[in-house]
Amino acid sequence: MLGFNFKNKNFLGIDIGTSSLKIVELEMKGDKPRLVNYAWIKIGDKNVGDKNNDNDSEFFKIILPKYLKRIIQESKFKSKNAYIAIPAFGGLITLIELPNMPDEDIEQAVKFEATKYIPTSLDEVVLSWEIIKGESQAKEKKTKPEVKNKIRILLVVASKSKINAYEKVVREVGLIPAGIEIENLAMINSLIGKDKGRFIIVDIGASVCNIIYVERGVLKINRNIDAGGFDLTDTIAKSLGISEKRAEEMKISEKSFFSKESSIKFPNLESIAEEIARILATILKEDPNIHIDALILSGGTANLQGIDNFFQTKLNMKTVIGNPFSRVEYDSELESVIDKIKAQFSVAVGLALMGINTNKS
Ligand SMILES: Nc1ncnc2c1ncn2[C@@H]1O[C@H](COP(=O)(O)OP(=O)(O)OP(=O)(O)O)[C@@H](O)[C@H]1O
Ligand SMILES: [Mg+2]
Repeated sequence: MLGFNFKNKNFLGIDIGTSSLKIVELEMKGDKPRLVNYAWIKIGDKNVGDKNNDNDSEFFKIILPKYLKRIIQESKFKSKNAYIAIPAFGGLITLIELPNMPDEDIEQAVKFEATKYIPTSLDEVVLSWEIIKGESQAKEKKTKPEVKNKIRILLVVASKSKINAYEKVVREVGLIPAGIEIENLAMINSLIGKDKGRFIIVDIGASVCNIIYVERGVLKINRNIDAGGFDLTDTIAKSLGISEKRAEEMKISEKSFFSKESSIKFPNLESIAEEIARILATILKEDPNIHIDALILSGGTANLQGIDNFFQTKLNMKTVIGNPFSRVEYDSELESVIDKIKAQFSVAVGLALMGINTNKS
């Protein structure tokens, strides 16, 4: 985790997306996390939550506090402990290898290595890192003797000023910043948890698509590309000569745009599929025998009718819509609601789970 710490039982996971805010409250009930409350609010359309907003933009100063305040007032969450995410494009996650060395030297070596990835001074960033242990390394040791003397580390870097900007907004609305994490890592938490397989998560939100390859719970490759639901709406509007508003309504109306009768082609979905294919090729180059268990779709755009089939056919890979609530208990009467919202809540649930997991002991 990048920062903050707090001991408690109830946690809010807050996902600040470019099109909406999503909040989940989980509590520890016995030894299981349980859903207490959830809410989401649209923060506007294209450009409002623009990914290029800097820390003193109108977004951080006015829009985000306004909507966060509103959703919190309306939803009556019990907890004030907030775990928040910074977008994947706002931070850097990378795997590095170091020669074997005594534990006390690792920190210094990681910092030195990190300077290669950071264009600014180390004072301007927050570093977080974790040694990757486990089976995969043990297996590789057998097959690749040269790996034997290496330590593998997951390095996470984020700008201090960005973290401060988020933290400030959280305080401003009366919450306690308990933890901050990059959204990709939160998503792995809720969609994969302790599953040992190999998965590719494809999170398609409104503006950005995050593609993450995870092996035995460890993030191996991550890419983000500028493609998302806003583009799809745009394509529909232009192809049919209708307004953006009408196109958005059509998009979410469960009409399938992938049927034979539909004349619409989505170049952005094609680009996403091509990027996944490139990642796959990289993975298979390392070891042609690798089998990927599933492609897990997430984000609001995962709700597009037929999108799972589109990727499954295109990539010839089992494709599912991820369910971040599968590791959480909830009232059975919520089942149908959960089914509708699940794709959009992967980050929020993952963040709240982080709260639960960090404070378990
Ligand atoms: N049923 C649906 N069919 C197709 N698209 C949908 C559906 N429901 C929501 N969407 C789209 O999902 C997008 C919002 O998804 P999400 O909440 O994951 O984005 P975000 O987190 O705000 O954005 P980003 O992650 O890009 O910053 C919107 O573009 C919306 O049009
Ligand atoms: Mg998002």
